[in-house]
Amino acid sequence: MSTSTLSTSEIDSLLEAARAVLENSHSPYSGLRVGAALLAQDGTVHAGCNVESASYGLTICAERNAVFRAIADGVRGFRAVLITTDRDEALMPCGACRQVLHELEGDLEVIVVGSGGDRIDTTIAALLPYAIGEAEIKGS
Ligand code: THU
Repeated sequence: MSTSTLSTSEIDSLLEAARAVLENSHSPYSGLRVGAALLAQDGTVHAGCNVESASYGLTICAERNAVFRAIADGVRGFRAVLITTDRDEALMPCGACRQVLHELEGDLEVIVVGSGGDRIDTTIAALLPYAIGEAEIKGS
């Protein structure tokens, strides 16, 4: 497990944004509220929550919601994502989100925080080794 290179105030900003957006989670089926906040290289923060569907497979995770919102806002280049839930323990990002986050930023730091205070600092490269991405698809 690596230690984040973010400053305490950067982590606090991400945690505040992730906790705030988690309150907007639409999760009537699982009852699990998830919030994610991305720190862009330009210093801006982009947050997303999970949004569930009665057709379960259409559910979007908080992490991908944060990514898509940031991209839609024209932001590129990211340093870190912080993920939190309303559960005590730190809940790691699912495989689908690892893939999308890795493609977005191969050097991304990942910080996972449980509401009980557990915190795991890692990287997307550690969470998704041997990832496939643009370079592999294009054969460059
Ligand atoms: N969920 C996330 O938001 N992020 C993840 O990485 C894992 C799962 C959400 C999706 C669903 O709304 C709920 O958690 C239960 O799977």
